[in-house]
Amino acid sequence: MQTIMVYSESGGATKTTTAVSLAAVTAASGRKVVLVDLDPRAAASKWIGVEPKEEGLHVGAILGDADPEGWAEDLAVTSSWFPNFRVVPSARSVSNREADRADHAELRLRTSLIGINADVVIIDCPNRQGGPLTLSALNAADTIVYAAGATVDGVDGVAGARKSVEQFRMSRKRIGAPDNLQEAGIVVGAVASTVMSRIAVSSIDELRQTGMLLTPLVPHRTIVQEMRVTQEWYGEYRKGLPVVEAYTELMKEIVK
Ligand SMILES: Nc1ncnc2c1ncn2[C@@H]1O[C@H](COP(=O)(O)OP(=O)(O)O)[C@@H](O)[C@H]1O
Ligand SMILES: [Mg+2]
Repeated sequence: MQTIMVYSESGGATKTTTAVSLAAVTAASGRKVVLVDLDPRAAASKWIGVEPKEEGLHVGAILGDADPEGWAEDLAVTSSWFPNFRVVPSARSVSNREADRADHAELRLRTSLIGINADVVIIDCPNRQGGPLTLSALNAADTIVYAAGATVDGVDGVAGARKSVEQFRMSRKRIGAPDNLQEAGIVVGAVASTVMSRIAVSSIDELRQTGMLLTPLVPHRTIVQEMRVTQEWYGEYRKGLPVVEAYTELMKEIVK
C-alpha cells in the first residue's frame, strides 16, 4: 500500500483538487483507493458527497482515539463515483484536534490505516504550518506531493511545506527513527494554458528551479469548479477531459 499526502501551507493551492483528482484517476485505473479528508473545511468530502456513516464517525474520531487501529477501514464511506473509491470524511469539529496534546496523538492516523483494504491512500491536508493535523499526515505518509497554483502564494506554500518536511525529517533523525518519506514532486494546478500571466510564468519558473516540478501542468477548466457544487466527477464530461488526462499522466509519476 502507498500513502500519499497532498500538501502546501497556502490555501487555494489546488490541494483538494489534486487529491480528489489523483484519487479518482487512480480508482479509474482499477486500484482500490481511500481518500482521507484531513481538512476541517471538508471540501473534499462535500465535493464527493460523502457523509459519515453515523454522527461523529469522521476523521476526527480517529485522531481523538487512543487505540485507533483498523478504524479507517470502518469509517471509510464508498463514493458514488467509483465502487473502488472510498472516503474517510471530515467535519468542522476536526479543528478541535489541533489542540490535542496527548502523547503520540500524531501517530493515530498512521495506526488507523493498519490493515485497510486499499492499494493507495491519499490524504488531503489542511492549510497549516505544522500542527497536529499536518504531523498526523507526515507520520502516515510514505509519499509527499506538493500542490501549487501558478501564483506567488502557490510558490510560498510549497516553500513553507518543504521546510516543515525538512524539520520533520530532522526530528525523526534525532530520535534515530527511519525516514521513508519520498517527495514525489510538485503538481501545478489550474494553469491558464492559452495566455499565461507574467506572474504565472515566473511562478512556474521558480517551482521548476526546485528540480521537483512534475509535468504536465494541469490546465484550468471552469467545469472543475462547477462540479464541486453538483458533487460530480468532472471526468464524466467532455470539457473535463484535458484535466483528467493531465492528472492521469501525473498519476503515472506518483502512484507506484
Ligand atoms: N484545474 C482547475 N481548473 C479550474 N479550477 C481549478 C482547478 N484546480 C483547482 N481549481 C479551483 O481552484 C480553487 C482552489 O483549489 P483547491 O483545490 O480548493 O485548493 P486548496 O485545497 O489548496 O485550498 C478552487 O475553487 C478549485 O475549484
Ligand atoms: Mg483544500
